[in-house]
Amino acid sequence: MGQKGREIVDTDIKEVLDDLNSAFADEWLSHFQYFLYAQTIEGIDAATLKKELEQQSADEMNHAKILANRIIQLGGIPTTNLIETSTCGFSPPPKDRADLVKIVELVLEGERCAIEKYNGLAKKYHMKDLVTHEIFEDLLSDEVSDEEDWENFLPSIQRK
Ligand SMILES: [Fe+2]
Ligand SMILES: [Fe+2]
Repeated sequence: MGQKGREIVDTDIKEVLDDLNSAFADEWLSHFQYFLYAQTIEGIDAATLKKELEQQSADEMNHAKILANRIIQLGGIPTTNLIETSTCGFSPPPKDRADLVKIVELVLEGERCAIEKYNGLAKKYHMKDLVTHEIFEDLLSDEVSDEEDWENFLPSIQRK
């Protein structure tokens, strides 16, 4: 990153990089989680849900890309220790592949964890690093709208 760009970061760059990497790990794991759900589900409503999950999976990968760009800009390296670095972790698909309600509940759990995390991080960097702050704020607003979409989707597949 350029000299001035680094100077305006009014906090420890190592700490910013740790937070960005933790978010990067979360995004990759949710990308992977939703991808896996999309491949494994079965049942009457599976086709519609599969499409939603694949779209969501692609969105989370795009979040990972945005975070990777900022990590590199600050002179860091995106982590490969995804599980250890992540906050929200990874939930494997349910044993019953036709339990679509469970799938959506797990997605909602992930989105809510991300909301909490980005809310904290956006606040933390508000006065310290405006560029990183804005990234966390944008991601927060995406996750808030993800949660709403999935909440609205849930009644259409409620257990019959
Ligand atoms: Fe995300
Ligand atoms: Fe999301």
